[in-house]
Amino acid sequence: MSDGDIIAQADRKLGEAVETSDVAISIRGLKNAFGEQVIHDGLDLDVRKGEILGVVGGSGTGKSVLMRSIIGLQTPVEGEIQVFGQPMVDNDDEEAQLAIRRRWGVLFQNGALFSTLTVSENVQVPIREYYPNISDALREEIAGYKIRMTGLPGDAAPKFPSELSGGMKKRAGLARALALDPDLLFLDEPTAGLDPIGAAAFDEQTRELQRTLGLTCFLITHDLDTLHAICDRVAVLADKRVIAVGTIDELLATDHPWIQEYFNGPRGRLAHAGSTSLRQAPARHDDQAKKAES
Ligand SMILES: Nc1ncnc2c1ncn2[C@@H]1O[C@H](COP(=O)(O)OP(=O)(O)OP(=O)(O)O)[C@@H](O)[C@H]1O
Ligand SMILES: [Mg+2]
Repeated sequence: MSDGDIIAQADRKLGEAVETSDVAISIRGLKNAFGEQVIHDGLDLDVRKGEILGVVGGSGTGKSVLMRSIIGLQTPVEGEIQVFGQPMVDNDDEEAQLAIRRRWGVLFQNGALFSTLTVSENVQVPIREYYPNISDALREEIAGYKIRMTGLPGDAAPKFPSELSGGMKKRAGLARALALDPDLLFLDEPTAGLDPIGAAAFDEQTRELQRTLGLTCFLITHDLDTLHAICDRVAVLADKRVIAVGTIDELLATDHPWIQEYFNGPRGRLAHAGSTSLRQAPARHDDQAKKAES
């Protein structure tokens, strides 16, 4: 079999797993450390397929490190991570790893756009990497489509990141995360630094894209409004592990002091009172969304 055939086979196998599994990400007994400093210890978490899972925790509790270990940028000391049933730790099946990488998109905390590339070129980077045989014209067309999907005007495509506002940069990062039509979207603090109106618009866009594309979202945020407006469930990171996961009402029923302080403190109460939830309609599952698309 040629390399292409092997990759296609790995992708088909993964496609079946994506269709049939209820759990998108499963983490068991995760331990991460930098030298003596232990960040996670005995961390368990399941992300259900088709949900937006909000991930919260104090600054420095290891939310970004958790995301990085799921996507393979941080090697855990111990533990198991599976994405759509594929083991991610110590897995040297390169084709399977490539197949899974093509199914997720990532918006990093700092945006991480390449400053010397235009918005369009930034969005084309993952397409170029994973589908090198696509023609220049088609790649550019796909990038243009992704850019418009995120609510950016078409004329943003030839601009450089330095010519964009903070909110536009986030959208450009989102367009790049969506470049490969992912099943799974990782967002690290997507609304940080945006004004409340821009943040709400970004939330709405995320919810809309998640529904229409049938995405599963792992969304790290400090933004209480985002949690109330678009997250189906919220996982709380503290004491080096996930101490609770559930709807905000379920979390409020626990008596953990950090959770009470976070959701029931003055800012938490305000967000709760003012929340316009976009969560009412249940998220569509991948297969329904794919049918609707075609
Ligand atoms: N590459 C690294 N080398 C050493 N220490 C690191 C590295 N990356 C993260 N850390 C440490 O791991 C801890 C968790 O960092 P992380 O970035 O995951 O926090 P966070 O929960 O995302 O915080 P924030 O809300 O501020 O973004 C911090 O103490 C940080 O200093
Ligand atoms: Mg972080």
